[in-house]
Amino acid sequence: MEIRLWELNPKKFIEEKVKDISSKVGNGLAINALSGGVDSSAVTILGHKALGDRLKTYFIDNGLMREGEPERIVSMFKKLGVNVEIVDSKEIFFNELRNITDPEEKREAITKAFYKDVFGDLVTKSGAKYLFQGTILTDVDETIAGIKRQHNVFEQLGIDPEDAFGYRILEPLVQLRKPAVREVARALGLPEEIYNRPPFPGPALAARVIGEVRPERVETVRKATRIVEEELKDSGAFQYLAILHEDRVIGMRDGKRDFGFQIEVRCWESKDARTGSPTRLPYDTLDRLAERITTEVPGVVSVTYNITKKPPSTIEAI
Ligand code: XMP
Repeated sequence: MEIRLWELNPKKFIEEKVKDISSKVGNGLAINALSGGVDSSAVTILGHKALGDRLKTYFIDNGLMREGEPERIVSMFKKLGVNVEIVDSKEIFFNELRNITDPEEKREAITKAFYKDVFGDLVTKSGAKYLFQGTILTDVDETIAGIKRQHNVFEQLGIDPEDAFGYRILEPLVQLRKPAVREVARALGLPEEIYNRPPFPGPALAARVIGEVRPERVETVRKATRIVEEELKDSGAFQYLAILHEDRVIGMRDGKRDFGFQIEVRCWESKDARTGSPTRLPYDTLDRLAERITTEVPGVVSVTYNITKKPPSTIEAI
């Protein structure tokens, strides 16, 4: 049942969840994956409050994260007293994603790489019975509505994780939407950089590559993402992102024809990601984005800005 922002008492919520987690897991072991987003960060701290060292936290390096992200997040949590182990799973993910262009198939490939290949292995090795994850209510709603299959939704789709993967999943945040999760994250003592962090999708940069997700294509969108995040960090927007298109277009570089890549920039005003509208960015900002992306990201000859609302658009491209 949903806990709305105005009904939420973050301290009480934390106490209740800590109790609930302790009683469910008992003396057993649990694991969780931290991506550094507000949801998985809140789950990590909640789980450690309840279980201490009996929760083992991993950062799954799937090759789809933003620049420098694994090291940055691990060192941030070290300061908070939580040890995080990086698991290099790039090859597993790119193998599962090979030759796939359909958006839902891509999400399924990521789900399989994550829950079956990587976690199946980690659970077996660690002897854990539970996996904690930061599913929130919006993920469940959109999956059930058939809009997008979020990579982390199972039970609500009739999939039993114990049958499918051999472990149980606990979702302490599933009654909350994003603004409430931010309040809980703040009450848990996470830094503002985390509790106010713009959302980032579970499938990471793969949600922003149209067409096949190959390492070099992820690298292109990763470079563009860094520029978009730098330029728009003070925009006050809900979320901003770069998308790599599949179609190429003719451009010119050094007086020669260049059949190059297209990057689409999106910047959203939204409260809870259920609906959204494009931010009316100053033209100078758009100009600088185009200038920087075409000069700093190899092969890009075209930059466009999305002017469509959600719906009918969605926030991510995939
Ligand atoms: P869409 O693209 O559906 O995104 O309008 C709504 C919000 O959810 C994020 N998003 C995801 N988050 N797993 C997640 O944890 C996912 O598979 C996923 N797909 C999209 C997106 O960034 C936006 O904030």
